[in-house]
Amino acid sequence: MPSFQFETTPRIVCERGAALKLAQTLQAGGQRRAFIVTDPGLVRAGLVEAPAAALRAAGLHATVYDRVEADPPEHVVLEAAQAARDDGADCVIGLGGGSSLDTAKLVALLAARPQRLEDIYGVQRAAGPRLPLIQVPTTAGTGSEATPTAVVSTPDHQKRGVISSLLYPDLAVLDAELTAALPAGPTAMTGIDAMVHAIEAYTTRHRKNPISDMLAVRALQLLHAHLGRAVADGSDIAAREAMLLGSLLAGMAFANAPVAAIHALAHPLGSHFHVPHGLANALVMAPTLVFNLPAAGHLYAELGRALDPALRDAADAEAAQAFIAAMRGHVQGSPIPQRLREVGVGEADLPVLAEAAMTVDRLLMNNPRELAQRDALAIYTQAF
Ligand SMILES: NC(=O)c1ccc[n+]([C@@H]2O[C@H](COP(=O)([O-])OP(=O)(O)OC[C@H]3O[C@@H](n4cnc5c(N)ncnc54)[C@H](O)[C@@H]3O)[C@@H](O)[C@H]2O)c1
Ligand SMILES: [Fe+2]
Repeated sequence: MPSFQFETTPRIVCERGAALKLAQTLQAGGQRRAFIVTDPGLVRAGLVEAPAAALRAAGLHATVYDRVEADPPEHVVLEAAQAARDDGADCVIGLGGGSSLDTAKLVALLAARPQRLEDIYGVQRAAGPRLPLIQVPTTAGTGSEATPTAVVSTPDHQKRGVISSLLYPDLAVLDAELTAALPAGPTAMTGIDAMVHAIEAYTTRHRKNPISDMLAVRALQLLHAHLGRAVADGSDIAAREAMLLGSLLAGMAFANAPVAAIHALAHPLGSHFHVPHGLANALVMAPTLVFNLPAAGHLYAELGRALDPALRDAADAEAAQAFIAAMRGHVQGSPIPQRLREVGVGEADLPVLAEAAMTVDRLLMNNPRELAQRDALAIYTQAF
């Protein structure tokens, strides 16, 4: 077996209502001043007040920073970190989707040890210590609660990542009740993002390993079986919980077996056209899977068989096609835009996107099949 390493979040609590019980954990660690990082949408959805009130009722100081923006820009990260320092925070709670969780990671780091973002973009360049960090996802999702990554938008329209083992939180809390109010469209987009994490982890060219494989398969089974239910009825709490668990497992997988071309092609859609991260993945997923088929067909066949026992005896070609059809079915069955032309992209923009995608080489290098600029253009054209 090839050698491998595996890292993940050390403690996970999966319990309905757990977001109201964070005080116990913080008090056990000696923390007194919590800094909650979230966004205005979460406040409007009424998801922030109760956890903050529960902390205060237990005698802790709780400050809410609610100015996170989607695809968090640098200035928001820096402002939030300064606010945490000014507040004398001794712990950070990320409460929200990937944007809030990624911001919370950097707040925990920068509040304890100021350093320039420019100096820490990339792999293992950040220096500790960081403040104690609890992550509470409200989308299922980015899996950010189980990854060492914080993605930030730079002023020149790039998305850059701080990747550091310091950014695994101390605790991830999966509380399905928080996700019940997420509307059908975002539920579908974020759920497909999680599926893509699992698929790309399982087929990655670098650092594919037996633990990530196992997690990716289980993640995909959970997400495949429950996405339709969660989209059709947001109050189906069992489906919501399965989605949160699937998203976490996919996060654990791709934290150690990194994502590839689907994410690379999604990046410029986010940075140039502000297409939400999950939707960007959904729009380019199927044509990228088809492109990868010659190199990854046997792996897609394995995933297909894991999702559908009826494919157990099917040949690789048939099982792989069935897998791609099932993934395409999730996109087509979701109440989300289906083509790039529906999200503000013009035909003349496609070559610009293809050129921009080629700069995401840190992800492209993980793709099972070599992908050149003309291939990127062909995929965007099919997605158009
Ligand atoms: N760290 C990682 O490993 C990782 C992985 C994938 C993506 N990302 C990043 O995560 C970000 C995307 O995160 P996201 O897709 O979770 O979306 P998001 O955090 O940007 O949230 C999208 C919207 O959904 C709303 N929302 C979230 N939860 C809700 C709920 N339960 N009820 C009602 N509204 C709710 C928010 O208010 C916001 O308006 C991007 O910046 C992306 O680059 C990070
Ligand atoms: Fe993603």
